[in-house]
Amino acid sequence: MNKTVIECNGIAAGYVKGLNILQGVDLIVDEKEIVSIIGPNGAGKSTLLKAIMGIINISGGRFFINGVEKTNTPTHQIVSEGVGYVPQVENVFPSLTIEENLEIGSWSVKGNIKQTISKLYDDFPMLKERHKDKAGNLSGGQRQILALARALVTSPSILLLDEPSAGLSPVAIKEVFEIVKEINSRGVAILLVEQNATRALNFSDRGYVLDQGRNAYQGKGQELLDDPRVIDLYLGKL
Ligand SMILES: Nc1ncnc2c1ncn2[C@@H]1O[C@H](COP(=O)(O)OP(=O)(O)O)[C@@H](O)[C@H]1O
Ligand SMILES: [Mg+2]
Repeated sequence: MNKTVIECNGIAAGYVKGLNILQGVDLIVDEKEIVSIIGPNGAGKSTLLKAIMGIINISGGRFFINGVEKTNTPTHQIVSEGVGYVPQVENVFPSLTIEENLEIGSWSVKGNIKQTISKLYDDFPMLKERHKDKAGNLSGGQRQILALARALVTSPSILLLDEPSAGLSPVAIKEVFEIVKEINSRGVAILLVEQNATRALNFSDRGYVLDQGRNAYQGKGQELLDDPRVIDLYLGKL
């Protein structure tokens, strides 16, 4: 049986004291899994990732990494426990070079940073080619690849991705998803928030549907795709 990497148990969280956006969310990601979170705009998908990362306060429930409780742990400690995060917006520094972006991503990493970055350049030749260029000069797809590479600098065992395909061309979306698949095939679990529910569920082992800060449905990707309730409410006409 696979080990559980992260577990959310009845998580409540929000941005204002006394006003919870998440109203008790349960979620598990096992080693090497690809799990997606889908649901309407404003359902709390990004909020859940921020609660996991210790960016916002968890006001109820418990959060675990590798079976150890980490509720309300500072973000840098969550990262050093092996959780990587690519936020939905502002996930690279446009005024810095590609290399500087990777160096900043690695500030907390012990060991040889140059060597770590050089390995990333082997995996992402585009970043090597453009390493002196400002991140702001990259295309949308290239920026997402840089953001993924930045998150890989800390050698995470799980990556949290918040809408990595948003605003990208179909070709760039395909490339980003192929890279995510490749990262997963090297043993990194993926927790993916995705606006395109059909694409997300086809890509994932399992999925969670969030609605108004609560778990609505969950199951294997294909089961959710075939579930008439999920289709009616969240997938539209297929
Ligand atoms: N920084 C913030 N401050 C206050 N409320 C926020 C903030 N970010 C999001 N919200 C609110 O939290 C709810 C969930 O937002 P979010 O988690 O971003 O939804 P999703 O990612 O599912 O579209 C929304 O009602 C949104 O308006
Ligand atoms: Mg969001």
